[in-house]
Amino acid sequence: MQTPQQALQNYQQHFPEEARLFFSPGRVNLLGEHVDYNGGFVLPAAINKGIWFAIAPNHTNSASFVAADINEESFSVELNNITKQSGWRNYVLGVLHILKKQKFEISGFNCLFGGNIPQGAGLSSSAALEAGLVFALNEIFQIGLSKKQLALIAQEAEHSFAGTKCGIMDMFASLHGKEDHCLFLDCITLDYEYLPLMLNDGTNDYELVLIDSKVHHQLNDGGYNKRYQEAMEGLSFFQSLNKRITSFRHVQKQVVEQFMENFSKEVYDRCIYITQEIERTKQAATYLKENNLIEFGKLMYQTHHGLSELYEVSCEEMDFLVKEARSQSDVIGARMMGGGFGGCTINLVNKSNRDKVIGQIASAYEKAFNIIPEVYLVETADGTREIPLVLS
Ligand code: GLA
Repeated sequence: MQTPQQALQNYQQHFPEEARLFFSPGRVNLLGEHVDYNGGFVLPAAINKGIWFAIAPNHTNSASFVAADINEESFSVELNNITKQSGWRNYVLGVLHILKKQKFEISGFNCLFGGNIPQGAGLSSSAALEAGLVFALNEIFQIGLSKKQLALIAQEAEHSFAGTKCGIMDMFASLHGKEDHCLFLDCITLDYEYLPLMLNDGTNDYELVLIDSKVHHQLNDGGYNKRYQEAMEGLSFFQSLNKRITSFRHVQKQVVEQFMENFSKEVYDRCIYITQEIERTKQAATYLKENNLIEFGKLMYQTHHGLSELYEVSCEEMDFLVKEARSQSDVIGARMMGGGFGGCTINLVNKSNRDKVIGQIASAYEKAFNIIPEVYLVETADGTREIPLVLS
């Protein structure tokens, strides 16, 4: 689905009530990967790809959903009998379950959704779905929750129904995004700053380019939760040394090194990566504020190296894309983005040579893996919002 009008028209073919329209964006993350659930900082931005929702109360006690992009797959659920199902249904059911559990007043509604965000590419289509639904319900039932509260509900929905122990970054970024800015989010306090993302360092214009490896991941297939558990295993060791430690924010890399013998190789590597990435993200925010994109780009390469070698969430295809990017002087930074095990790389590319450079990376990739990668030029966008209906 490509336009909000399509969402509305499609809705009218299924449901009689007059709907309101909402849009919930996906996100990119410039730096700070796999640290949102480890007490770190992240630098995400909402993008101009996402999901539209046409939604209205239906004055019953059941909710009906139509997923326009998945062959108009539909289902209804009684609000006092919400149980887990499978696939995308768990994202929306999870939201309803948490709202009910927290005793917020919602009644029946009809909802059709669809969008232009690629699924499984690491752009957080599932968070956009959860954040968009909870935002829309907050509006149509006038619940009065803040965006921060909505993000926490969406995260809990994902934990309890989709089963991924994700951090707060994706839903927070989807809800709080701002055009031409990224967020510098403290994942402990949830305080944040908007950093302008002009991508011009006074010498060159740069652009964020995503290259989709087309190797698709499912975060709930185990790898992500395994990293979460390994990180928690590392953290609990430090907590046994000092009860005041509540997250990796309080653990220095040198301390991890000092206790190396107490860990398996995997857990040790994960802890080193986390402590490095927390520091790196703070440094990256400073470079962004100073408009020092060259140094910022170097940190992106360092992050990729850590994700690949220490946190082990990359894959052959993404390592290849980053290596190719690195061989191009017009790409000043590149790394795998998001949860990993496939998905997109994010590249900071000199605008004047962008087409040539991306073309070369894409054709090398095709030659090596026989896969044609997809390229997305990313524009940052405002966060989840209502779209006013224009009366004709
Ligand atoms: C996924 C999760 C996020 C975050 C990233 C990795 O997108 O949903 O919470 O952990 O992976 O940074």
